[in-house]
Parts: sequence; structure tokens; C-alpha cells
Amino acid sequence: IEEFTVKNEPVLTYLPGSKERCELESALKSLSCSTEEVPLIIGGEKCKSNNARCQVMDQIQQAIKVASEAQKCWDTVPLRERIKIWLKAADLMAGKYRQVLNAATMLGQSKTVIQAEIDSACELIDFIRFNAYYAKEVSKYKPVSPLPQQTLNSMRYRGLEGFVAAVSPFNFTAIGGNLAYTPALMGCGVLWKPSDTALLSNYIIYKIMTEAGVPPGVVNFVPADGPVFGKAITGSPDLAGINFTGSVPTFNWLWTETGKNVNGYKNYPRLIGECGGKNYHFVHPSADVETVVNGTILSSFEFCGQKCSACSRMYVPESLWCKIKEGLIATRDLLKVGDVQEFDSFIGAVIDDKAYKRITSYIEHAKCSPDLEIIAGGKYDDKCGYFIEPTIVVTKNPKERIMTEEIFGPVLTIYVYPDNKIEEMLTLIDTSTPYALTGAVFAQDMEFQTYAMEKLKLASGNYYVNDKSTGSVVAQQPFGGSRMSGTNDKAGGPHYVLKWASPQSIKETF
Ligand code: ALA
Repeated sequence: IEEFTVKNEPVLTYLPGSKERCELESALKSLSCSTEEVPLIIGGEKCKSNNARCQVMDQIQQAIKVASEAQKCWDTVPLRERIKIWLKAADLMAGKYRQVLNAATMLGQSKTVIQAEIDSACELIDFIRFNAYYAKEVSKYKPVSPLPQQTLNSMRYRGLEGFVAAVSPFNFTAIGGNLAYTPALMGCGVLWKPSDTALLSNYIIYKIMTEAGVPPGVVNFVPADGPVFGKAITGSPDLAGINFTGSVPTFNWLWTETGKNVNGYKNYPRLIGECGGKNYHFVHPSADVETVVNGTILSSFEFCGQKCSACSRMYVPESLWCKIKEGLIATRDLLKVGDVQEFDSFIGAVIDDKAYKRITSYIEHAKCSPDLEIIAGGKYDDKCGYFIEPTIVVTKNPKERIMTEEIFGPVLTIYVYPDNKIEEMLTLIDTSTPYALTGAVFAQDMEFQTYAMEKLKLASGNYYVNDKSTGSVVAQQPFGGSRMSGTNDKAGGPHYVLKWASPQSIKETF
């Protein structure tokens, strides 16, 4: 395989009058008028799907057959050829199709321009490019051969026999691309079930990858009802793996169903999952207030807090509370909640009615509970979109359920702790939720930072020192959490590609 290096895709700025802004505006216009239906695609053939949630078992069974069959042939295509396709696709995403991907993410998932650019341009392109790079690196591995050389040891990486099911969420377009196309890169056949609230952007990824050269049947695009899809894949003897991002209950259900069928599989399926989080910002008395305020506002409220990494519980020492409270309220007041097509909007609407009801139920809970006080925001309105104000709550009880349950919305809860209770706070952070996804410690006292990093070793998969808990960049901060946050296989990291390969050790004797 030829050598090559890759770099993170730069974020474009979309200044008024810039080329990218003009291109995005025209992509938004043409997508808004488009009546193209998102189909179900099996073996490269479009099947009409008027209602994506009502797919019948037959179509999924057909997709399983096609993917498992296509896998055998696809796995014979040399890795260097597959890598070429991935690099070509990344170039198409970075150039010709960048703005249509961004426009689809804005219109379909209610992301602002900059949020879309970070997701459906940069992160997606980075996943495609870096996974190609890591696949090349991994393939270089050579086991030790004894001297004198009468024996040669080698390792080859085969795709997983059967099919992989990729089940992706709405909140990052890039995650869909990563979940479906990393197994494909490594030689697997895939059924991709996108979230039904991210269909358009995910379908565009499918089309780009096909244009770049992924053959029909290797990835099958299967929007479907979740439980119907889940039953079909876990009931198939050919299930080779599930690549999942979504909620804990769904992932647990997939594990349970897989367990029930364990005697029927040809291979033990690999279950890779990234689930929820209840991510913390811990503020030490030595912290820099401005860094804390700016980082927390971005982490908690960007994309309406609909990131598994968003900060939703914060611990502030009494000695800094006055200044931090003032800073958070003043900065929050500057945020514009509105139409994402208006370039100065900070956030748009939350994704759907279900999310709106869940998030606002926590706000209502905060209004009623004697332990909780809303100090900013708290209003919401669904007359023309599911709009919720960024909301800041203070709690007297650090174990209140608003401090332990995932909300996945623009609600930040703060516990103000006595300065002499730092040790108790660290223990509480580590033990009061079932999750361990992201966390941040703000302190200028570097001795304390060293101590906290050790103490909070297991409390998150991504850990930040004096920085917000969101915004991991592919290859810079490989992403994933442990405990109930997932299997911590680090998307965007060097080892992730190996989850989708079945290595064969070969000993040749001469
Ligand atoms: N990778 C995304 C972040 O870190 C989820 O915010």
C-alpha cells in the first residue's frame, strides 16, 4: 500500500460574501424545494419507502442476504483499492458535496451553519480519511519471524463473515458515516439503519460513497422501524457485529436479543456501542472564571445540548459562585435561539416532539421541586418548531435526579459546594451516575489537576483539563466512554478499524 498522510479538515468560516456562504445559501435553497424521497436501497436498487418506519421484515431479510453475499466478493478487493475509494469520497465531501451535506444537516437536523460545518463537513471527512489512514497503518503489522528464515509469519485482515448492522443517531451526520463505512472499509457487508430524523444527510453520504466507488450491496441503506430492524438482525445467523450509537435502553435491548440468539450465530457478533452521558464540569477554587464560563456555555448549549458529550452537571465552589453565576447568565443572555438559516442563531429547535416533551418535563420538574431553582431560561414554545431556551438550574441536592439522569437538551444544573468539600465532590462525580463519557476539570493549580486526573480516572472516557467537555476532534481526541456510556472503542482512534476485521495468522514453513 502506498504511503500517504492525512490532516484534519479545516473549518470554513462562512463570513458574509465568502464563497462557501454563497454556495451554502444556494444549496439551502435548492434542498428546500426538493421533493426527492429518501429510499431504501438494497444491492444498489432503490425500493420505494413512503413510510420509513413501516419497513416489513422481508426487505430487511433481503438486505441481510445481499450484504452477506456482497461481503464475500468485497473482501477480495485489496485494501489499497478500498482505501483509494475512501480517499476519493473524502475529497468529494470536502469539495463538490460539502454544502449539500451541510444544508441537509441544517434543514433536517436543525443545526446552525457552524455546527453543520463541524459535523457534516469536517468530522465526516476526517472519519473517512483517518480511517483509511489507520487501515493502512494496521495492515503494516508483521509478526516476528524466526531466524534463520525457514518460517515466515504474517497476518492478514479479513472482513467479518456475514453482515454488520450500523445503527446511527440523528445528532451527528458524521457518526452515521463512521458507523456504516468503517466496517465497509475493512471488508464487511453492511446494513445501515440511519435515524429517521437524519435521513436526508445520511442518504447523501450513501450517494457520495457510491459515486466514489463502493459497489452495490456492500452498504445497504435501510431506514426502518427500530424494533423490527433489531429483531431481524439479531435473529440472523449471519450477524457479525452491531455498530451502534444511541440510547442505553436500545443498546441493552440489542445485547439481550443477541444473547438470546447466541447459539444460532456462525460467529460471535461484535457489539460496539456508544450510548449516553451525564457529563460534568468540575470547577476548583483556583479556576479561571472566564474559561469556565465560556467553556460551559458552549458545552451545555451548543446544538441545544443534543450531544452525548454535553456538560449537564456542574460543580462550583462557593468562593467563585458569584462571579460564575453572573458570567453564565450574562453569556447565556447573548445566545440567539431561532431559525438555523439565520446566520446569527446560536441554536435552533430540538429534534422532535419526543425530545421536546422529555426536555421540558425536566424544566417543569425544576419549577416544581423545592430543591431546584431556575436562574436563567426555562421558557419553551412549540408553535413553530420545538424551541427551548438554554436553561440554567441550581440544585441544593447534588444527587437530585436532574444531576444524574441524561436529559439530552439545553439544561445545565449546578451544585454549589463548600470550598472545603473538594474530596467529597470528586467522589460524588465518580459515583453518582451510571455513565462515564466526558468530563472536564477547571483548575489553575496544576498539582490539583494531577491529583484529580488520577482520582477521576474511571469517571469518563474523554477527559479535559481547563477545556469544555465537548468538541473532540477525530485523531486528536479519539472519542468514547465506558460504564453505561458504551464499549469505549474510541471512534476516530487508531484501533477502531480493528473492530471490523478478523485477523488471520499465517505460518509458512519452507
Ligand atoms: N465527538 C463529539 C464531541 O466530542 C460528540 O462533542
